[in-house]
Order: sequence, then structure tokens, then C-alpha cells
Amino acid sequence: LKIGVLISGSGTNLQSLIDNVENGQIDGKITVVISNKIDAYGLERARKHNIKSVFVDQKNYQDSEIYNEAVIKELKSNGVELVVLAGYLKILSRNFIETYRNRIINIHPSLIPSFCGKGYYGLKVHEAAVNYGVKISGATVHFVDEEADSGPIIIQETVKVDFKDTPEKLQKKVLKIEHKILPQAVKLFCEGRLDVVGRKVEIN
Ligand code: GRF
Repeated sequence: LKIGVLISGSGTNLQSLIDNVENGQIDGKITVVISNKIDAYGLERARKHNIKSVFVDQKNYQDSEIYNEAVIKELKSNGVELVVLAGYLKILSRNFIETYRNRIINIHPSLIPSFCGKGYYGLKVHEAAVNYGVKISGATVHFVDEEADSGPIIIQETVKVDFKDTPEKLQKKVLKIEHKILPQAVKLFCEGRLDVVGRKVEIN
């Protein structure tokens, strides 16, 4: 199965996907990595593994709609059948979601529906969790629908939050979980074992 990965940053989640494709765990091929940031280290990770890496410069497109069309074009020209958002910080257009309905997987560093949606990205997610005083947090892998960080949940896994945890410490703990459950979800998708029933996901 042909996979396209969208990133905006360091790409450690991308790296875990690359590793799990190369070790045979994931029965798929990453055919393109696309970023909206020219300095996203994830583009370098792709290049190191001979994976096509593309910077789509938002400055070349006058609005988000047209930017999304450019990204869709790039995905289609690489035969992408599954889109993975791995730390991708741009909003997908309605047409994007329609085009890849239930074939877009996102990883979010909290237990959705907590600490998600507009403004909750990167360290901000963990600051909110630490400040709230939750005793568990974790990560969520889900199919993407029209809302931000919503959509049918595929896998969630928890981490304990200690009283003395800083947001950075919690981020490290959650990132370890992300690197585990994102490849798991992609593996299940490639094996055709995920069924979306209403707004829930059945794993067969
Ligand atoms: C991760 O915490 C991910 O959950 C969030 O953005 C971060 C991306 O990290 N969406 P990386 O670029 O995969 O290292």
C-alpha cells in the first residue's frame, strides 16, 4: 500500500514509520513525504532513506484552499492511498478530506477529546495537561474528519502523569507512546483490519 506522510517538524513519528516499513512490520511503502516547512528535519530523514521529499511552499499559493489542492496533486502523482499526518500543523480542506475519506490518519499527543482542537499542538498540549493536574495522559491515533483532532479513534494508549512532571517531561513520555501506536495503526490499515462503523473504528 502506498503511503504519503505530511509533516511540519522534526519528524520523529515519520522516523518510526520509516523504521517499521524497513523492518517489514508495515506492509506498505512511503512514496512521498510532504512538508509546509522548508527546514522540517523530517525532510532530511526522508532523503536519508531515499524517500521522495517535497517542500510545498505556502507562499506560492494565495489561500489555504489552493494550497491544499497542490498537496493533493502531489499525493496523487505519487499514487498515495493512505495519508498520515505526523506532526502536520496545517488545516486540511474539505475537498482534501472528501478525497481521502477515512484514509487520513493523524496522531495527537493527548487522550482525545481532552486537550485537543484549535490551539492544542506541540508542547501546549502537555502544558494544559500538567496545569490541569490530570493523573493520566497519552496519545491518540484517529481518522481525520472535518473538525480539528476529531474523527474515529483507532488506538489510544495512556501514560501516568507524576506530580513533579514538567510539560517537557510529559511530552517525552507521550512521544514514546506515539512512536509505538502510530506504526501499529498504519500496520492495521495496510492489513485491511480497520473498519469505520459510524464514528467508531472496529479492529478485525
Ligand atoms: C508530536 O507530538 C505529534 O503528536 C504532534 O506533533 C509532534 C510531532 O513530532 N502532532 P514529530 O515531528 O513527529 O517529532
